[in-house]
Amino acid sequence: MNCAPSEADFVVIGAGVAGLRAAVELAVAGRVVVLAKREVTDSATHYAQGGIAAALSDEDEIGLHLQDTLNAGDGLCNPESVKVLVEEGPERIDELIQWGTAFDRDGTKLAFGREGAHSRNRILHAHGDSTGREILRALYAKSKTLANISVCEFEFSTRLHVENGRVCGVHVIGAQGQPQHISASAVLLASGGVGQLYRNTTNPGVATGDGVAMAFRAGAEISDMEFIQFHPTALYLKKAPRFLLSEALRGEGAYLRNGEMHRFMPKYHPMAELAPRDVVSRAIMHELEVSRMKDPLVYLDLTHLDPEHIKTRFPRIYRTCLEFNIDITTELIPIRPAAHYTMGGVRTGLDARTSLPGLYAAGEAACTGVHGANRLASNSLLEGLVFGARAGIAMREELGQGPRQGSTGPGSAASGPGDTATEAVVGEIQDLMWQNVGIVRTGSGLKQAVQRLQEITPKVAQPSSRRAWEAANLHTAGLLVARSALAREESRGAHYRTDFPTHNDAKFLKHSVAQGESIRFA
Ligand code: SIN
Repeated sequence: MNCAPSEADFVVIGAGVAGLRAAVELAVAGRVVVLAKREVTDSATHYAQGGIAAALSDEDEIGLHLQDTLNAGDGLCNPESVKVLVEEGPERIDELIQWGTAFDRDGTKLAFGREGAHSRNRILHAHGDSTGREILRALYAKSKTLANISVCEFEFSTRLHVENGRVCGVHVIGAQGQPQHISASAVLLASGGVGQLYRNTTNPGVATGDGVAMAFRAGAEISDMEFIQFHPTALYLKKAPRFLLSEALRGEGAYLRNGEMHRFMPKYHPMAELAPRDVVSRAIMHELEVSRMKDPLVYLDLTHLDPEHIKTRFPRIYRTCLEFNIDITTELIPIRPAAHYTMGGVRTGLDARTSLPGLYAAGEAACTGVHGANRLASNSLLEGLVFGARAGIAMREELGQGPRQGSTGPGSAASGPGDTATEAVVGEIQDLMWQNVGIVRTGSGLKQAVQRLQEITPKVAQPSSRRAWEAANLHTAGLLVARSALAREESRGAHYRTDFPTHNDAKFLKHSVAQGESIRFA
């Protein structure tokens, strides 16, 4: 039997923090179908370690959180969105606590950790380093108490259904592989980012840019895709996944060391290991480049810290590294930067509305302008929470809008794993993006990437399986990132070009907006 009905009041694509938080708001107005591409536990939220930032401690102020966010965004944050984020964040977190989220405490008081570019200790965490998992557990439990919400797993959304310029449903490949159409008054994209575009990423396999690609193909405006955040410290071992080593480790005092065992960050930035992520990632790449060693490595060093504290504060990281034969309390951890977060996405206003009537976006799939050119650590769960709730509230007004029955549209596609040709295309895109559209970019590398991606187009033109749709979505997202990066002839935040190494405020203190063939700055 299908979990997803053919008609609902609201469809939410994605079951991470933004999608579930929106669903809770929507449930008071009508029937909500939440579509998870795999299991609910496969979202990026589930993997988020470090925490969620909010000015809740006695030493903190909302104005300081606002300023830190603006500083990290390198001139490109939308100040109104940031104000909403930092002002509404504490109330949303209080709600989460009421719904059962067990944040870590020092005695009875909430415990606050530190991460890069924050001027105060303001990072709430849960079970040490499993913050996202705990938030998701509580939100999912909350959604289960609301009869109007159905969370359907293994439902892969392929295309938005647009009629008379309005989004009024979605085509999916159902859990049993059957093509299906769900009509609705409004659709929310909360489907996460594009991390799988890169050979090295901390993101789960589901992060294939489905929401951005679907919205782009339907004609929506997409903004700031050139800004991809690379997390400085992912585990770097052959045959191991690029497991995230939370920035909170450096917040607790961990050092970065090069192959010669020198602690190098103080020479790059006054905040040393806690400098903004783009600065740390580029410093690591530079150390690797100038090393005289044959296979240069950079390490994260916790060996000077209290081992018992490390084991209790970071139990998941400790256990995972031990599985790869590294005792992080006594041994150095080999690391490299990896693609981590998509600052850009489907362009939205403060209430998550996109440029297409009936279509909303929240969380990593959206671009509210809250992160500007570089996201402040631990602002992403907060964004999902705050703007997910706002999306839900705004979408309630759409109830009864748009055509509600009829067209099932053409059948979408069969299920099944990708074939070797599809995997080869995905691998080529990931290598191309890593080499040419990665941490350090050049105009010629970006041009080559755009050209090669255009040549690949016929290979992804007619997707016939879930994996082939993912390949097509990665291809669309890759072109958006590469074309926007080529158009932005300056360096800012996470976008660094050696041919334009400084800001150009006169021309580019603006957001890139891609729509169809055009890219403009607005
Ligand atoms: C981390 O734990 O370092 C990731 C937190 C984030 O990306 O905000």
